[in-house]
Amino acid sequence: MRTPIIAGNWKLNKTVDEALALARDLKGKLSALDDIEIILAPPFTALAPLATALNDSAIVLAGQNCYPTEGAFTGEISPALLRDVGCRAVIIGHSERRHLFAESDDFINQKIKAALSAGLKVIFCIGETLTERNENRTFEVLESQTRNGLAGLDRAAMCRLTVAYEPVWAIGTGQTASNEQAQEAHRYIRNLLAKMVDSSTAENTRILYGGSVKPDNVDGLMAQSDIDGALVGGASLKAGDFIRIARFKRN
Ligand code: PGA
Repeated sequence: MRTPIIAGNWKLNKTVDEALALARDLKGKLSALDDIEIILAPPFTALAPLATALNDSAIVLAGQNCYPTEGAFTGEISPALLRDVGCRAVIIGHSERRHLFAESDDFINQKIKAALSAGLKVIFCIGETLTERNENRTFEVLESQTRNGLAGLDRAAMCRLTVAYEPVWAIGTGQTASNEQAQEAHRYIRNLLAKMVDSSTAENTRILYGGSVKPDNVDGLMAQSDIDGALVGGASLKAGDFIRIARFKRN
């Protein structure tokens, strides 16, 4: 039985005060949910204050990105510094990083290795563009992003990794993948992990769906057998919407 994860990616939104207000609201209303994991990824500036505000709750703090090494890399953040400020996880390979900041599979692979060796859990994002889907290349893209992004990781490393399937055409567009499209992609990813690692690791790996998850579509998505949670962008910025998503209806 895989424990569901509902993760909020706040992207480049929320001042410290706004972030604290949202986090306190969520903490008060989500603390009764002990059978799911809640992860929040605020902007870097809000991490330290949120770590303090959430230190008596089970909500996990995550970075939205990291750089693979430390030193003279102006403007970057390392896994060790994320840990230092209270993060237990980090999002790596988000499509906005891949497409707006031209991050390659190889660079993403370096970041994953650095984050895992610093003791962070990783939410590894993959997903096809609309053109790739229309050209019937979805599975090919998912396979190459997964094989290249996870190259060289052993079974123990895979146990600390969560995959997020985020079709690029569904992110921030209001256009969600249908339940069937999402389930088909998740099943494909799980089968691929079984081939790459082994079937028990694949069965235990949480695969989240991301891309315009909202209160009115979460129940259908979460009813799919290979969808183990959601990575939520826009709807995670409003307490009411995120709480409703975290309280998705169980079968
Ligand atoms: P969205 O973003 O929910 O606003 O589509 C999802 C994501 O980017 O993780």
